[in-house]
Amino acid sequence: MEPPFIGKVALVTGAAAGIGRASALAFAREGAKVVVADVNVEGGEETIALCRALNTDAMFVRCDVSQRDEVERLIALAVDTFGRIDFAHNNAGIEGVQAMLADYPEEVWDRVIEINLKGVWLCMKYEIRHMLKQGGGAIVNTSSVAGLAGSRGVSAYVASKHGIVGITKAAALEYARNGIRVNAICPGTIHTAMIDRFTQGDPQLLAQFAEGEPIGRLGSPEEVANAVIWLCSDKASFVTGATLAVDGGRLA
Ligand code: NAI
Repeated sequence: MEPPFIGKVALVTGAAAGIGRASALAFAREGAKVVVADVNVEGGEETIALCRALNTDAMFVRCDVSQRDEVERLIALAVDTFGRIDFAHNNAGIEGVQAMLADYPEEVWDRVIEINLKGVWLCMKYEIRHMLKQGGGAIVNTSSVAGLAGSRGVSAYVASKHGIVGITKAAALEYARNGIRVNAICPGTIHTAMIDRFTQGDPQLLAQFAEGEPIGRLGSPEEVANAVIWLCSDKASFVTGATLAVDGGRLA
């Protein structure tokens, strides 16, 4: 049987590593051509090599999602090269620092909001302009369990991820009649470089995180990617404006 996304084009931001890379590879496995965007050139080039090894076409664009001109260029290059953008996974994000709100450094606050929240808005802005022209598409934004519940010591991250849930719902309502579905995924603790930075490689802290998940282990980037693929597929044709927790039961 032919893979379901043959002839389709998927764009993934933050795809040089972690969840974004897993998502890019999952789209490639489904037969889509993949546009990999990231600030990390080396990791991005690795991801496109891995996609091509799965027999699909892939391109890398260096792009800082917080910069309007770079996002505009990313979408233009993707359309020039592959002709369309059927699926967009707006996933690039940073964790910021751990500090109580009253001590949170303003420059880190601004950067977290610029990348995590403004970045998703900018990507959607230019993706949707193109999707309106081509007659539809599906967008998945990476929020977090921290987009649906509070968490101590990471107020900027929590605010940015709640903001993503908000603009996801707003965009879903605005474009529901244009064939554009917009959903958010809310991962729990997923074993990526972000978590290694957060736990500073402390195996005890990592074990504590795993214990905190009702399912008793950390999630894998591939488990998140599976949810992204489903949300982009026709099987989710009546799903828009939703927030899908991929969290081993944490929010339950
Ligand atoms: P990661 O740190 O492994 O990957 C993030 C990627 O985003 C990196 O390749 C990085 O270079 C890229 N990036 C950072 N700033 C960028 C910018 N300004 N423009 C373009 N690319 C940029 O992290 P991970 O874990 O794969 O995270 C991916 C997304 O999932 C993030 O939005 C994160 O907040 C979210 N998330 C992660 C969870 C986890 O437990 N790992 C849990 C919930 C959400």
